[in-house]
Amino acid sequence: MEKSEILALIDSLSVEEKIGQLVQLTGDFFADGTETTVTGPIKKLGLHQGYNIYHTGSILNITNAEEIIKIQDKYLKNSTHKIPLLFMADIIYGFRTIFPIPLAQTCSWNFDLIEEAASVSAKECYEEGVHVTFAPMVDIVRDPRWGRVMESPGEDPLIAELYAQRVIQGIQGKDSEQKIPADKIAGCVKHFAAYGAPVAGREYNAVDMSEHTLREVYLPSYLAAVKAKVKLVMTAFNTLNGIPSTGNEWLNKKILREEFGFAGVLISDYAAVEELITHGYANGAKEAAHLALKATVDIDMKTSVFANELAGVVQSDEQMMTLLNEAVYRIVSLKNELGLFEDPYRGLKNKSAESSSILSVKHKETALRLSEESIVLLKNDGILPLEKDKKVAIIGPYHDETSTLGMWAIKGDVKDTITLKEGINKISEADHHQFCRGSHLLEKGSTQSLGKYEEQIPNEPISQDELIEEAVKVAENVDIVILALGESIYQSGEGGSRTDLTLPKPQQELFESIRALNKSLITIIYSGRPLILTDVEKQSNALIQAWFPGTMGGEALARILYGVTNPSGKLSMSFPRSMGQIPVYYSELNTGRPNLAENGFYRFASRYIDESNQPLYPFGYGISYTTFRYKNISLNKKQMTHHDELIVTVEVENVGNYDGDEIVQLYLKDRFGSTARPIKILKDFKKVFIKKGETKSISFTIVEEQLKIYRNDMSYASELGQFDVFIGSNSEDLPLKETFELVGE
Ligand code: GLC
Repeated sequence: MEKSEILALIDSLSVEEKIGQLVQLTGDFFADGTETTVTGPIKKLGLHQGYNIYHTGSILNITNAEEIIKIQDKYLKNSTHKIPLLFMADIIYGFRTIFPIPLAQTCSWNFDLIEEAASVSAKECYEEGVHVTFAPMVDIVRDPRWGRVMESPGEDPLIAELYAQRVIQGIQGKDSEQKIPADKIAGCVKHFAAYGAPVAGREYNAVDMSEHTLREVYLPSYLAAVKAKVKLVMTAFNTLNGIPSTGNEWLNKKILREEFGFAGVLISDYAAVEELITHGYANGAKEAAHLALKATVDIDMKTSVFANELAGVVQSDEQMMTLLNEAVYRIVSLKNELGLFEDPYRGLKNKSAESSSILSVKHKETALRLSEESIVLLKNDGILPLEKDKKVAIIGPYHDETSTLGMWAIKGDVKDTITLKEGINKISEADHHQFCRGSHLLEKGSTQSLGKYEEQIPNEPISQDELIEEAVKVAENVDIVILALGESIYQSGEGGSRTDLTLPKPQQELFESIRALNKSLITIIYSGRPLILTDVEKQSNALIQAWFPGTMGGEALARILYGVTNPSGKLSMSFPRSMGQIPVYYSELNTGRPNLAENGFYRFASRYIDESNQPLYPFGYGISYTTFRYKNISLNKKQMTHHDELIVTVEVENVGNYDGDEIVQLYLKDRFGSTARPIKILKDFKKVFIKKGETKSISFTIVEEQLKIYRNDMSYASELGQFDVFIGSNSEDLPLKETFELVGE
């Protein structure tokens, strides 16, 4: 439809019909027989009795073709203006082919592959009739206590910007400004804004930060999403500096729409419009509706506030009526861009089962590659890669676990998972290794804290002591033990904030029992966040961070264990040495009294008296089976103007025995600024394949745009002066350094 036709359609709608477009409900409202009765979901949600279910604009989390067709059919038959329903769902990192959790994906630093994975997810969604996915989540996170760190891109703005841009391209296609093509769907970036910085890492807690930190660290990834033409933005649950994001006019209207130029659909998070009351920000439902609409929220996800109150809010209030019309226009335009007016089923009705690409060999191959590149080798004293003739025991709750898909794999089916055991059996002869559970996953009695997920925790028919006893017996008969340990996926994700990030107690007991045997020990960690691995690291010959690696995780791990694949992952988030360090991240300020090693023990420096300042593993860290040596940094000039390009060149030599990928990282330090500058910021990187014995020359181009900062007057601009350039293999190991000066126009 043309814009004029959309406007004409909107003009023909009653106020009630317009309001209905702003309402998002779940599919149960359209189950046979419920939509007319006032009992059931209508009553439960508190929808007013006159609400016409066939005015509703969109449906949440119905994700199979048959049900979508059925609901759309019923809706179109019963609705006057036949504006098709939008179907939206949480397909965050995979539909049926499940990829590693986003925090793992960004450890690949391979954004071509990340985009390919998003494209696979979009295609599988398209084939089942989903129109909108609530991805990418791009909240920056520096605090691993927060459970949703698993679905975030980690601590760094540049990584998060690239993740936002490339996932949206994968989901929507590259030129989705007008029409969203077949095999693509609409993306929804979330959660606007700064949801990843709750006080004390506690879920849904307040977020309080300076505008300077908000703009320099937390907003860039959302801006990158808007620049990538994301179709929807989702508001965050949290207050930002005292004002709930969902009712925050400064955030949503001034920043998102006016400053960023976002003209798409702004959807609330689940029940967040009604929660404006709970926040103590809206004095009742009518004020909540008023504040959300004024903050240009277009869709009220799963509450009755818009449905019940907007008619009163817009009555005899021209400004609010205009806002309502603008919201309807954005929603109907999105449906138009998806082609729903031409085909409300987007090809569903004539798709053939044979043409399904769901869980295809190609899709699983993409998942395998991304899983391999997301896994991070943290320690290796040479025990890896394993020799195939070694007798190996694989012990632990994750030795043969299918539940390794992470918390936001709502369509994933664990029966599709390749477990560690299956992966190893694919690679190495079965008589060379033994498997056993070794310990309980979680401490008895600790699972009620997991709420509704408690019943998902496997019961443990065998006692912890018997499991340990069996594990010791098995371990005594082998050369090498692989311990497959970690947190439960239900200790991670939404509502999964934790105050103790060490391994669950039963697994610590297993670790100590096996350690006492003095066998060579390889520890694999499954988790949705950085755990505290300081003791585990000390006592393991090798340590691998597997994250929740998705459908193909077991095969990816086995290929790395046996050297079929040389690991290349690098951490997108720092691993604390202890809980007391949190938040610990690489791009910190220098302070007036930096704790410099050369000062030795100096009490009056920015330090702890009982812990190091340094994380156990820094941002950007990950090792390979080979060794890369950095040398010969050079600049094409020592001074640059605003219009120059400064070229930094280094050489990286593979001096080890394996071909491998190395992620060469470039950090900048702005020596002086009108605001204190971080000791380093990642400004570029290149993932390069270097054969053993080969040396590669790698160049980076620095432009003035990369030197811009938020100044003390909050303007965004570069400032003249000196910059340090550091290049190396992670944010701490930066052997090559040069300096240059920005000298002006
Ligand atoms: C959840 C999450 C959000 C998700 C939405 C719909 O509470 O905060 O990320 O997209 O509700 O399920």
